[in-house]
Amino acid sequence: MQNFKPMLVVAGLALGMASAGVAAADRAQVAVGEAEVMGEMFRSFNPQGQAGLSRLRQDDVQKFCSTPGWQKQKAHVKQLEKEQLATIKYPADGKLLGSWQAGERVAQTGVGMQFSDAPGSTAGGNCYACHQMSAEEVSFGTIGPSLRNFGKTRGNTEAMQRYAYGKIYNSQAYSACSNMPRFGHSGILTEQQMKDLTALLLDPNSPVNK
Ligand code: HEC
Repeated sequence: MQNFKPMLVVAGLALGMASAGVAAADRAQVAVGEAEVMGEMFRSFNPQGQAGLSRLRQDDVQKFCSTPGWQKQKAHVKQLEKEQLATIKYPADGKLLGSWQAGERVAQTGVGMQFSDAPGSTAGGNCYACHQMSAEEVSFGTIGPSLRNFGKTRGNTEAMQRYAYGKIYNSQAYSACSNMPRFGHSGILTEQQMKDLTALLLDPNSPVNK
C-alpha cells in the first residue's frame, strides 16, 4: 500500500498543473518519478563489501544525462565536455605509451570493484565487453564501435595519443553522456594501465593493428 501514495501524488500534480501547460506538468511528473525510482533503488539494493549504496547517487553529469531531451541542450553539452576535458590528468612523465601486451590483459579483464573484490585490488578495463579490438578475440560486445585497426587508421601522432589516453580517462570529455565508463576519472584504472591501453590501441605491433 505504501507504494500507492506517490502514484496518487503524481496524478494529482499532473491534473493540478494542467492549466499551467503540458510541459510544466511533464516536468513535475518526471521529478516525482525520479524520486520514486531512486527510493525503489535504495530499497532494492543491499550494500555489501566495497559496493555501497553511494554508488546509486548520480553526479551532476549523470543527472544531466538522465534528463529527457538532454541532446537538445547544445550549449550545456559543449560546456559539460569542456569541464570533463579539464578533469583529465595526463602522466607527469609525459609518456603516454606503455606496453600493449599488458594493455591486452587489461582489455580482456572484467574483474574489479565488485563486492567480492578486496578494496583497492587491481581492476580490469573490460574493453572487449563493448568493443571489437584484436582479430584473434572472437567474443566481443557491440555497445561501442569496433576499434579494429584504430592506430593504423588514425595514426600514432602525439595528438592521437592524447586523444586515446584522454578518452579512456574520461569518455565524457569527447562525447557527452557516452555509455563508456570514465576509467581514470572514476578511479577504476591506474595511470600505468591507461598507458598500456593507449599502446594497445596505437602501437603498430599490437593485435589491434594486425
Ligand atoms: C560499457 C561499454 C564500454 C566499455 C566497457 C568501453 N567502452 Fe569504449 N566506447 C563505448 C562507446 C558506447 C563508445 C562510443 C561513444 C563515445 O565515443 O563515447 C566508445 C568509444 C571509445 C573510443 C573512441 C572511438 C573513436 O572512434 O574515436 C575509444 C578509443 C574507446 N572507446 C576505448 C575503450 C577502451 C580502451 C576500453 C577499455 C578500457 C573501453 N573503450 C571500454 C563503450 C564502452
